[in-house]
Amino acid sequence: MAVPFDLIMKVRRVERLETGLVIINLEDFEVNFRQVLDEYFNASKHWKHSHKIRGRWENTYAPINKVPTARCILSLAAKKASKHFHKQLICGHGILKNSFWFNHMHHGDETGWHDHKAMAHASGVCYLQVGKDSGNFLYRLPQGEIRNIVPETGMMLLFNSSLSHSVEPSKSRKERISLAFNLFTLPLEMEDDDPFGGHIL
Ligand SMILES: [Fe+2]
Repeated sequence: MAVPFDLIMKVRRVERLETGLVIINLEDFEVNFRQVLDEYFNASKHWKHSHKIRGRWENTYAPINKVPTARCILSLAAKKASKHFHKQLICGHGILKNSFWFNHMHHGDETGWHDHKAMAHASGVCYLQVGKDSGNFLYRLPQGEIRNIVPETGMMLLFNSSLSHSVEPSKSRKERISLAFNLFTLPLEMEDDDPFGGHIL
C-alpha cells in the first residue's frame, strides 16, 4: 500500500553515536503520531502479547491493517537504517515475525537488558508519547561501559540488533508509548525458524 504523501515523516536532525547507534529527531510528527495512537487504541481488542514481566505485558502486537499509519514510521526506519548500516534493510510491516510491536510503560515499569540479534540485523524504537522522567534508554558499549539516552516524543533510535540495551524504571505519571521494530536483510533466514510464523494480519 502506498503511503499518502502527507504521512511521510520528516527528519529534523540525525546524530550518530558510539556503536553506530543513530538518533533521529523527527519534525511535524504530531498529527501522524496521534493517528498511530488512535489506531492503536481503537484496535485494543486485536492486541496480542508475547510475555509478561513483573506484571506487565512487555510487548503489545497489533495487526498492521489496524494501525496502517505505523507504516510511515517503519518505512522511514528501514530507509535510514539501510543508509547508516550500509546494508539493504527491510521492515516486516507486521507480516514478518517480530517486525514491530508497541511498548506501554506506566510509572515504575522498566525493561531489562536484552538484545534482538536472534531476530534481525537492525532494530529500533520510535517514541510516540513520552513524559518527563519516563526512564532513559540504556545501552552498553563493547567495553562494558553503559551510556544513556533521554527519550523524547518524536525521537527514533536505530541500532545494530546485537546492541545490549534496557530501559530504566519510569518515574513519570504519563504513560510512555513507543513503537519498537526489527529490520531484516534478504534473503530471510529460513533454516532455523519460520520468518512468517508470527504474522498477525
Ligand atoms: Fe529491545
